[in-house]
Amino acid sequence: MQDKAIGIFDSGVGGTSIWKEIATLLPNENTIYLADSKYAPYGKRSKEEIIELSIKNTEKLLELNCKIIVVACNTATTNAIKVLRSTYNIPFIGIEPAIKPAAIRTKTRKIGVLATKGTLSSELFAKTSDLYANNIEVIEVIGTGLVELIEGGKIESPEMYTLLESYIKPMIQKDIDHLVLGCSHYPYLIPVLKEILSENVTIIDSGEAVAKQTKAILATNNLLRTNSNMGEHHFYTNSDIATLQHILQKSNILYLADTLDF
Ligand code: DGL
Repeated sequence: MQDKAIGIFDSGVGGTSIWKEIATLLPNENTIYLADSKYAPYGKRSKEEIIELSIKNTEKLLELNCKIIVVACNTATTNAIKVLRSTYNIPFIGIEPAIKPAAIRTKTRKIGVLATKGTLSSELFAKTSDLYANNIEVIEVIGTGLVELIEGGKIESPEMYTLLESYIKPMIQKDIDHLVLGCSHYPYLIPVLKEILSENVTIIDSGEAVAKQTKAILATNNLLRTNSNMGEHHFYTNSDIATLQHILQKSNILYLADTLDF
């Protein structure tokens, strides 16, 4: 059982930012990653569609023999994880915008959250926001078009800079000192964001916390791999493989990538 892989899925290549944290923290674990790029972006879809797609991905990861599933997508977590947990008898780890650390650390009492429409309009996001940020100002902005540009391999393009600047400028004008990245695709935008933001704005993403939580849940369930060999990493996409390859090449971790129909 321990040698089975950690299954990870996202609407596309963004969740590889979470995979990287997991593979770094747990180097002996095997992983299988599904990039559901064919159906990206999830952020514009209805809750019902997001649930249906999350079930489709879960079924595929179970077929590929995974021991735990990491939903490396804020949109899928905030809309579908409850249904997944009540349907399948396997642990699920989710990712949510990291409002709590930002709300604790802010000095200006203003934080920005950049996420998809699906995440910002979800019940789970509203609950988390009420719980941790009810006495500070949260400036929420929908990152329309960002996922499409990342999936299209245009991370450091002039188009990306212009679009991102139009989302971030209003937050800067409101004096935020923390920017929460509420989408697993967005950590790839950090170099561009740093050009737009001043040094006194801290960027927060949830990748490291998700990796730590994955380790803790594996340990609790006695599922940590005891084999001391390095883990193997398999990536599957149901769309063009070029963007996935391009993103993974920068990771310095050995992997195999292929296309798959799911
Ligand atoms: N990576 C997904 C997330 O974390 C992207 C959403 C999308 O496909 O719109 O929300």
